[in-house]
Parts: sequence; structure tokens; C-alpha cells
Amino acid sequence: MIKITVLVENTAVRAKQRAEHGLSMLIERDGEFILFDTGQTDAIVHNAELIGVDLTKVNKVILSHGHYDHVGGLKFVLDYTKPKVYARPEIFRKRYSKLSDDGNLRYIGIEDRGFFESKGAEFVLSEEPIEVAKGVFTTGFESMTTGFEEVDKNFVCEKNGKFVKDNVEDDMSVVLDTKDGLFVLFGCAHRGIINIILDVEKKFGKKVVGFAGGTHLGSASEKQRDETIKALKRINLKMMGPSHCTGVEMTARLHCEFGNRVFFNNVGNVIELE
Ligand SMILES: [Fe+2]
Ligand SMILES: [Fe+2]
Repeated sequence: MIKITVLVENTAVRAKQRAEHGLSMLIERDGEFILFDTGQTDAIVHNAELIGVDLTKVNKVILSHGHYDHVGGLKFVLDYTKPKVYARPEIFRKRYSKLSDDGNLRYIGIEDRGFFESKGAEFVLSEEPIEVAKGVFTTGFESMTTGFEEVDKNFVCEKNGKFVKDNVEDDMSVVLDTKDGLFVLFGCAHRGIINIILDVEKKFGKKVVGFAGGTHLGSASEKQRDETIKALKRINLKMMGPSHCTGVEMTARLHCEFGNRVFFNNVGNVIELE
């Protein structure tokens, strides 16, 4: 059995839990404890304690991409454990979000590799998919093929002293091999959830039956939202747990479209897969 527990998310509905703009999910498989992302702050430590998750047992961390709301909690996690940390090589890019067209930028990247290593992180950087634990894989590079999905226009990064569009090549999702098919965990799905689902089906040669995590549809264009819903109807998933950067409005819309196949993947939610 694979058990997934949401430790950090934008919404918390139970007493004393902390919500923040960020995401972290714990994957338990055969006695292994693997964190997928770490949220933005020490909310992960606070919520883990409330939920009864022992962070000292975490031996592996997978980072979906180098944005502060997914990696910000790592330095707090490293006070409890010195794990292997799986990511793609571009994760340490200096990256920003455009606040306005006149070049006003906000830093949204993470600390340097050396900072985390000095606190005990052991990085495993790979462009290819990796089997992190039995039946738990990273996607590696996610190719973009649909045409209607695009990376957030406001993202830029520094390359040779210049600001260029950041296509978040480090974006990586997690693939869980279950009895019914593949279940995908998204960080922010910056390269598009349909692109990622198609990429996963091609790479792993099996059907995707569900997902949970950030979809970045909250700030996507109306066209991308409409086309994504059409594609989801074609793909016909059994379980969808949109969260984080999906936003309340788009989560509500997905629930109206797909009924109880959509669940609310907020702090404390547990998903159990065979
Ligand atoms: Fe995010
Ligand atoms: Fe992000």
C-alpha cells in the first residue's frame, strides 16, 4: 500500500493546522518515508507534529522544482534528518516573477546547493527518471506537446547576466505505480498537467488513473483552463486531487465538472493506494 499525507497546502480545515502558499506531501511505502516538496516555511514541522508524522524517519526528499513555496521548508526538515534529495539540475537557477511590465521583479528561487549541503542534504541531480523507492518514480524532464499549455509568462531567470523566460525545465512530478494504473503527484505542474500526464504514459507505458497536487491552473489563461478540462474529459481519470496553485475558483470548477472524482487535497488529507 502507498499512503500519501498532505503536510503543507494553501488550505487547512482542522484545528491548529497551518496553511500557507506552498505544498508538501509525505509518501509512505514499505516502511520508507519520502517527502515530496517541503512547503514554504516551518509550517511543515508544525503540521507534521500535529498530524503525528515523525520527520526523523524521512530518508528521502523529492523536490518538484526550485521555487520558494516548495523548497522553503527544506532547511527546517534538515534539523530532523539528513536525507537524499532528488531533483533536476536546473533547480538552483536564480529566478524571478515579473510583478509589472516595467521590470519590477520578485525573487522566487531558493538558496544555493552549498547551503543545503552544509545542513546535511545529499543531492541526487538527474535529468532522467529515477526509481526512488519501490514503485515510486520521478518523471525526469517533462516534454510539452499539447500546444495549449504554456509555462507562466511572468517567470524569468538569469542566464549569462541577462533575464530570459524561465521555462522551469526542472519541473518534475512523482509517478506511483499502483494496481489500477499510474497515480501522479504534481508540485506546481508548471509544464502543464496534460503534458505531464501524456509524458508519463509514454515513458512508463501505462495509463494514468489519477493525480494530486498543484496544477498552476489558478493563473492560467481561460483558454488553457477550458482546453485542460476538455482533455481531462477525454483522459477520464478516476481520482483528481487538485490543490495549491489550482486556486479555489478552478478547484470549484473542476468539482462541478467531475463531481466526486475530485477531492480536496488540503492539509491533513490522506490518500491510500493499493
Ligand atoms: Fe507552487
Ligand atoms: Fe512553482
